[in-house]
Amino acid sequence: MTLLLDVHLTDRDADAALRADALAGLTATPKHLPPKWFYDARGSELFERITEQPEYYPTRTERALLDRSAPEIAAVSGADVLVELGSGSSAKTRLLLDAFTSSAHPGGGLRWYVPQDVSESALRQAMDTLGPEYPGLRLRGVVGDFTRHLDRLPGGRHTPLADGHRRMVAFLGGTIGNLLPAERDRFLTGLRAVLEPGEQLLLGTGLVVDPALLVPAYDDGAGVTAEFNRNVLRVLNRELGADFDVDAFAHVALWDPEQEWIEMRLRAERAMTVHLDGLDLTVEFAAGEELRTEVSAKFRPERLGALLAGAGFALTRMWTDPDGRHALSLATAA
Ligand code: SAH
Ligand code: AVI
Repeated sequence: MTLLLDVHLTDRDADAALRADALAGLTATPKHLPPKWFYDARGSELFERITEQPEYYPTRTERALLDRSAPEIAAVSGADVLVELGSGSSAKTRLLLDAFTSSAHPGGGLRWYVPQDVSESALRQAMDTLGPEYPGLRLRGVVGDFTRHLDRLPGGRHTPLADGHRRMVAFLGGTIGNLLPAERDRFLTGLRAVLEPGEQLLLGTGLVVDPALLVPAYDDGAGVTAEFNRNVLRVLNRELGADFDVDAFAHVALWDPEQEWIEMRLRAERAMTVHLDGLDLTVEFAAGEELRTEVSAKFRPERLGALLAGAGFALTRMWTDPDGRHALSLATAA
């Protein structure tokens, strides 16, 4: 089977973007890196392993929520194109694909599934698996960055898809929480700008829960999240000729009650001088200095409507799990 793959992020673009982010983030005070660089092939695999850890409740909570609500989402939405941003393994998406392609769904529903991810390895693997399972569905993968390439998503005014008239964009897993507030606002406004009125957004968000539950979810006992966190240094070593002593950095996960986000950091266990040959850059770390690698913001359900409205989306329906840990919001481009 031919794999339809659009590449909006070439290796060259990714290299330039990584360089710019590493230079800006490692010369800033405090130091930081954006989380998208976790996800090389190894990072994508480590993320999948995180989702299997007993402490990491978000994936199984969202899966259960989708299991219950997907038929209703399909019925309310009526979309014939499902675009998914940051689709990763697309594992949970099957629940949506099943509901949208079910004979119970009026009109037989979905024509296209368009997964988009920065991780080409995850995308290819997902498409290889899904293709034979959904022979009636057309797949078109996009290697792209949802903070930069929304205007090129297939199915828009300038990039029509045969028989695809109405898109629902799914952004699941709570990945929107990995954007800083300004990035999140830019993302939502940018997404609204590329949608036609009536097209939809299905947004999965983690909710604010007891830190006693949240913090272990980001610091599992088996150390998988710690390895995932350190993976960004391996990426810099490989891609930018850096010499980070990866094991000399400790994984830190803490809850920031003001921002209402989990922050992951890497703490230098001793003073270090790191060279990044590819950037011709030397960076000093003091003993105990921390590098922020990710925020994972959690939301309050009563504020999601306003967040979406601020970007031009009208909230249609919201589903939450019985323990109030996760929400799925279906919103329409107003
Ligand atoms: N949606 C899946 C995967 C979540 S992991 C789930 O709910 O389980 C986050 C995914 O987003 C990864 O596959 C990662 O490669 C992708 N990702 C992270 N930053 C991205 C960006 N800026 N643009 C596109 N994809 C991104
Ligand atoms: C992809 N994203 C929603 C995950 C999260 O929970 O913020 C990434 C992750 N980071 C540590 N564990 C999982």
